[in-house]
Amino acid sequence: MYKDTVNFIKKQFPSQDFIPLHEPRFVGNEKKYVLDCIDSTFVSSVGKYVDDFEKQLAAYTGARYAVACVNGTAALHMAMIVAGVKENEIVITQALSFIATSNAISYLQASPVFIDVDTETLGLSPDSLKEYLQQHGVRKDDGFTYHKVTGQRIAACVPMHTFGFPCRIVEILAICQQYNIALIEDAAESIGSYYKGSHTGTYGLMGTFSFNGNKTITCGGGGAIITNDERLAKKAKHLTTQAKLPHRWDFVHDEIGYNYRMPNINAALMCAQMEQLDFFLTKKRELAKRYQEFFEGSPIKFVTEPADSKSNYWLCAIILENETERDKFLEYTNENGVMSRPVWKLMNKLKMFENCLKDDLKNSTRLASTLVNIPSSVIIK
Ligand SMILES: Cc1ncc(COP(=O)(O)O)c(C=O)c1O
Repeated sequence: MYKDTVNFIKKQFPSQDFIPLHEPRFVGNEKKYVLDCIDSTFVSSVGKYVDDFEKQLAAYTGARYAVACVNGTAALHMAMIVAGVKENEIVITQALSFIATSNAISYLQASPVFIDVDTETLGLSPDSLKEYLQQHGVRKDDGFTYHKVTGQRIAACVPMHTFGFPCRIVEILAICQQYNIALIEDAAESIGSYYKGSHTGTYGLMGTFSFNGNKTITCGGGGAIITNDERLAKKAKHLTTQAKLPHRWDFVHDEIGYNYRMPNINAALMCAQMEQLDFFLTKKRELAKRYQEFFEGSPIKFVTEPADSKSNYWLCAIILENETERDKFLEYTNENGVMSRPVWKLMNKLKMFENCLKDDLKNSTRLASTLVNIPSSVIIK
């Protein structure tokens, strides 16, 4: 079976000897826009491309505002600052996520609490979230929810749309509203993914994206925050640009700011990539369909988009029968020119986060030992 899988994958990517997990495609106006940006000399944080990109991203996602950032981690950090997360508060998230989600929480000296994921969506489970808050949360007179044992305020919840599969964000939003917890969607992986007809990242107070080189569209390193809230958008833009007050020549900064704005030269690349996003998504969904047909009836389960959602299939994923099979699959594919990778180590297994609060993480634990990502790049013949 593993030999057939390797042959099938190689057939999809015929021009390559070694097939990576995900590589970028620069087949549009990338060079043209980057050269134009260089000629303009506006390569840093001011320029037409960065403004254009923000407008395009807002229009594409249906959010009212977009704030371009240097990367997805900075976008997450900024979103949490703007949402009012403070030192020693709690931010609920997934143990099954890329490290950046928990790192951004830690930059604020806040503590992540790890809640289980759904097996269908691979994202934060609203059922587990509800259960955790019923058991451990208490609403106080100031309107906020606090942890019954630690006394910490539960300031935010950051679910993640894993590999581009939308989590049950409507249900999560309802719970966050009930407990007055700020919802920030880590949509780093899910540009072009929709839940119940709306783009991921638009349900929360804010949503954040990554445009790292391994993502569906990329500018090398980049990120963004989207929101419908003008005040939050303005605050994020201000803080990502060193909190500098507008003035014709003087340098006045009214608070501690950050150098988190996406440079114009990266935004030039982003503008070209945005033009190709729909084409890339079509190609990625076609590949996912071929994978789905290939794995049908086999002991390997191909992960398909959950109910009520449209996935960008950023990274295609399969689930092996058990950990032994998972390891055999990883060994065989990587030995034979096809890159495959296990899912990230659960955050609670890393030494920095091993003492964090968590629920039973039943689904996360199973997925961590059986899920594998397989090559998912856009195929352009
Ligand atoms: C879920 C998730 N969150 C955050 C990030 C951070 O983005 P960046 O690498 O652009 O900082 C990434 C990816 O890199 C990610 O996959």
